[in-house]
Amino acid sequence: MPRYTASPLAEHSRALIGRLQTPEGAYPASPTFSAYTGYCWFRDGAFIADGMSAVGEAESAERFFDWCAAVLTERADHIRWIVAETEAGRPPAGAQMLPARYTFAGGVGDDEWWDFQLDGYGTWLWALVEHTGRHGADAARWLPAIELTVDYLVASWDRPCYDWWEEHSEHVHVSTLACVAAGLDAVADAGLLDGTRETGARQASAAIRELVAERGTLSGHLVKWLGSTAVDGSLAAALAPLGFADPASGLGAATIDVLERHLTVNGGTHRYLGDTFFGGGQWPLLSCFLGLAQLAAGDRDRAVELYDWAASTATEELDLPEQVGAHLIAPRMRWEWVERWGTVATPLLWSHAMLLRLGAALDATASDPATDSVLEGLAR
Ligand code: BGC
Repeated sequence: MPRYTASPLAEHSRALIGRLQTPEGAYPASPTFSAYTGYCWFRDGAFIADGMSAVGEAESAERFFDWCAAVLTERADHIRWIVAETEAGRPPAGAQMLPARYTFAGGVGDDEWWDFQLDGYGTWLWALVEHTGRHGADAARWLPAIELTVDYLVASWDRPCYDWWEEHSEHVHVSTLACVAAGLDAVADAGLLDGTRETGARQASAAIRELVAERGTLSGHLVKWLGSTAVDGSLAAALAPLGFADPASGLGAATIDVLERHLTVNGGTHRYLGDTFFGGGQWPLLSCFLGLAQLAAGDRDRAVELYDWAASTATEELDLPEQVGAHLIAPRMRWEWVERWGTVATPLLWSHAMLLRLGAALDATASDPATDSVLEGLAR
């Protein structure tokens, strides 16, 4: 009996995501949170699809990839224009670039947002290849959208843009670069690209790695943006599940170490020091990313602790929030956000998906379950 993916919380998570996925295949970020309702993000959605795929919900993941593909192919002319303008030395303004989120029907919506973000376009490629590898699905129907995405990313990867937290559009963010490189590597390694595209994807990925080694690394660990001295909780994803950097390498160990020491309190991981969003609380989804990194680096016990902390943030209804306020970086700022947008987004589908994803990884690496239960029995 799988311990983590068959728990009541896991069952609730997969049912919730399944129930809220729209007929178009989109995953709403959060059904009730004022600022997010009606929108699906490529970033959240790609990780949600990966979590669902990892627990066997193949059809749900594929419906999301269909949604992404429809969004992209509907914009094929615009994407080709962006690529052509960029290649001609006239990169379009950020407002002309692809947005971070779309309405369920695939529109851009009427609300202002911090839209120019590149990471989700890499992550959907990565998640799609993870899924096809896991379930043996044929990627042919997504090929036109994959090719548009690769062309877009190869032309644009080095541009400053908003990060995972939709902030600091003046910087080039290391987590964003990791998502882009992971996506380009994935589709190239899966043999999905023609010769010229494959060469472009591999060259971009190599250039990203060189840049990160030169300016995205300090004191042996990854940093928040090129030239920064700070770190960010999202960097755990660069180690696992994205595998942009090897979690078991010196760089992996040093990055895990700094995320643990600077950003993690009692198992709850903050986004970054200086975060003021809802007071700057701890994010269960980030503890899950760190858990995946710890697990990949060989520390299963720590991964279990991080999982347990994330699971402990569930409400009585078993809904997982975006963040909790037990340990705040900027306590006085919490109220300002509550007044502006209401209470913290709950449930947040991305939180549920990361719990599923870490749970699947823990179940897959469980030592003999019979021994586990004997040991547990002894401990009681
Ligand atoms: C977070 C994003 C996320 C979005 C929807 C924002 O507050 O900063 O990372 O994509 O919410 O969940």
